[in-house]
Amino acid sequence: MSPATAMLPPQKVVILGAGGLARETAFIFDECNRVRPQWDLLGFLDDDARRHGTLLNGRPVLGSLAWLEAAEPSSLRLIAAVGSPPVRKRLVARAAALGFSFCSVAHPSVVKSEFVAVGAGVTLAAGVILTVDIRLGDHTFLNLDATVGHDTTLGAFCNVNPGVHISGSVTVEEGVDLGTGATVIQGKRIGAWSIVGAGAVVTTDLPPRVTAVGVPARVIKTHSALA
Ligand SMILES: CC(C)(COP(=O)(O)OP(=O)(O)OC[C@H]1O[C@@H](n2cnc3c(N)ncnc32)[C@H](O)[C@@H]1OP(=O)(O)O)[C@@H](O)C(=O)NCCC(=O)NCCS
Repeated sequence: MSPATAMLPPQKVVILGAGGLARETAFIFDECNRVRPQWDLLGFLDDDARRHGTLLNGRPVLGSLAWLEAAEPSSLRLIAAVGSPPVRKRLVARAAALGFSFCSVAHPSVVKSEFVAVGAGVTLAAGVILTVDIRLGDHTFLNLDATVGHDTTLGAFCNVNPGVHISGSVTVEEGVDLGTGATVIQGKRIGAWSIVGAGAVVTTDLPPRVTAVGVPARVIKTHSALA
């Protein structure tokens, strides 16, 4: 750590969302701070008024996204931690329209080469491994023990749920939700906003806006609209 880095005050941050994923994201910030104090996590924002004023593991739900209208965009960074990719995209758009920008966070246990391009608002949970020549789109969430191989690209707003293994040279388009324990073999493409069931093995390209499950993964549904 350079002396200049050591003197930086902690970055203020607010989490969009106040559910389980948001609490898990707070845990990642806390784990980073145990290594080096660097984040000042103010709390959570959620449009569910029943949550306002409550404490989540010691931190407040500050209000709805309207809370941002009274805040100064340059004074803090945001990170979106809502499980649904389309809902996450909508929240990000609302906050960005108010001028806010987003930070990314990686648990200290993440293993990642210098040849990984990480977008804005990306979350990397404990145990994630990213090898080389990988691109992660904005606001994508890689959950516990997910691994990604060489030359793979993930679009924005993807969910890579716990224990997912993505092989080399895979393309995962925007908003894809890969269920817990799913595997994608090398060279395949998964179309935008598709959902892969827990435990599935993707052995063929998948089109956009489908749900595929099983081993090998088979399409069981198509989505005309996103939630
Ligand atoms: C794939 C998934 C999205 C389907 O949900 P859904 O659209 O509500 O579909 P349904 O529950 O109606 O299931 C449809 C059919 O697929 C089967 N199915 C659902 N998920 C399956 C899976 N993961 N593997 C194999 N079959 C599955 C169901 O048994 C059902 O079969 P049937 O028609 O013969 O009864 C969901 O089951 C899933 O696996 N989600 C992943 C969740 C996850 O990993 N969350 C991580 C949070 S950290």
